[in-house]
Amino acid sequence: MNDSLHQLRCFGCGARVSRGEAKPDFRCSECGDLFEVEYPGWGQRKGNDRPNAGALKWLWRERRCSSEALDHSGVWRFRELLPILDSFGNAVTLREGNTPLYHLTRLSKMLGIDQLYAKHQGMNPTGSFKDTGMTTAMSVAKERGFEWVACASTGNTSAAMAAYAARAGLRSLVVIPDGKIAWGKLSQAMDYGAVTCQVKTDFDGCLKLLIQVVKEAHIYLLNSVNPFRLEGQKTPAFEIAEAFDWNVPDHLIVPGGNLANSSALGKGFRELHELGLVARMPRISVIQAEGANPLVRSFRKNHGETLEPVEAHTRATAIRIGNPASWRKAARVIQETGGWCLDVNEAEIAIAKAELGAEGLGCEPASAVTLAGLKKLREQGAVEPGETVVLLLTGHTLKDADYTIDFHRGTLLQPLERLGFEAELDGLRRNAQVVDANASAVLATLKGKVG
Ligand code: F0G
Repeated sequence: MNDSLHQLRCFGCGARVSRGEAKPDFRCSECGDLFEVEYPGWGQRKGNDRPNAGALKWLWRERRCSSEALDHSGVWRFRELLPILDSFGNAVTLREGNTPLYHLTRLSKMLGIDQLYAKHQGMNPTGSFKDTGMTTAMSVAKERGFEWVACASTGNTSAAMAAYAARAGLRSLVVIPDGKIAWGKLSQAMDYGAVTCQVKTDFDGCLKLLIQVVKEAHIYLLNSVNPFRLEGQKTPAFEIAEAFDWNVPDHLIVPGGNLANSSALGKGFRELHELGLVARMPRISVIQAEGANPLVRSFRKNHGETLEPVEAHTRATAIRIGNPASWRKAARVIQETGGWCLDVNEAEIAIAKAELGAEGLGCEPASAVTLAGLKKLREQGAVEPGETVVLLLTGHTLKDADYTIDFHRGTLLQPLERLGFEAELDGLRRNAQVVDANASAVLATLKGKVG
């Protein structure tokens, strides 16, 4: 498997370009669609020509105990399936990946699904799943000699990019929608030394603007239109398969924003399947916020054949995206795995986030759409009690502390958004109380709660 040959294949028209030949905006010059990294020959490998599955699985697990920096990365320990660099010595790593898979004990009971898990990608070095893709794409940037990298972001990509750029000794430019990203994320970009531009537009406007910039200046674009990002983001699929002893779960549920992550995870499972490392792919479902649901609309209209952008509004700012770049790739993953694409409203997101918090995990609002989506799928009878289900939690709860505090204070949602959900919402609120500085005042707050 030391096959270091990769090329880029256009997802739309199939045109191929060799490494390094893609345009700065990573769009195909023939049809304008995005590229995917392709490893010629992997799909055709049959019988003895296939990699030794047992040996690879042993090696990947064994590396977790190694003292090599690269082996400590949950991305690069799978490097046989990431032959994208001339030298792995160029890899820029912050020991990303190897994130925990938690059994959701209370929610399992509540939803009547014994085998319900959360893969917590918020436990990455900068607190989101973006680190797994940033390590690969930043390594490519470094190997190709770029001095500057840039991204448009709803916050997490910029935090990850700024950190990895700093580690690589590169300069970074962040373009974010003014007033529409969580403070935790903005503070990270500043802390890691990025040049940060807050622009009076939304995420879609920021990306459009940045694409003009990278066409004019020698800056490497690190948004998820960059196919090397998806190579790293496919590796949680390997970790999930490994955690289940290479028997993939029945169903993986992922939030949808710009739709690269669902595409990458689908690619990861597809490659494992093609190489004979797993017997099948899981069903992959994508959940969007009701106010930022272009893919859901597309599935309702013509099962993911065309997409009309929307003006996006949701408090889950990470997925406030109306014109997702990778929608075609994500639509294919949903179609080929028999997954669903649905949306959830602001109250459902807030409730799900509080419930994940009460499990001792916590996550960003954008991550909580997965649980809210699963509840809907259970109600519709689309998920059976005997299935093994994994929710992909994409960001750490501390990324957006304002959201959590507003929720517990009862100031998050408007009366119309609360309508029909009041009891559930209020039952989950745990607002902080101001009490006098004496023990009896503190004990009084526990009245009726301690036996
Ligand atoms: N969850 C979180 C916490 C995110 O930050 C994002 C995307 C998503 C889910 C959606 O993933 O875009 O691959 O479908 N955040 C990007 C950013 C857009 O700029 O940080 P997707």
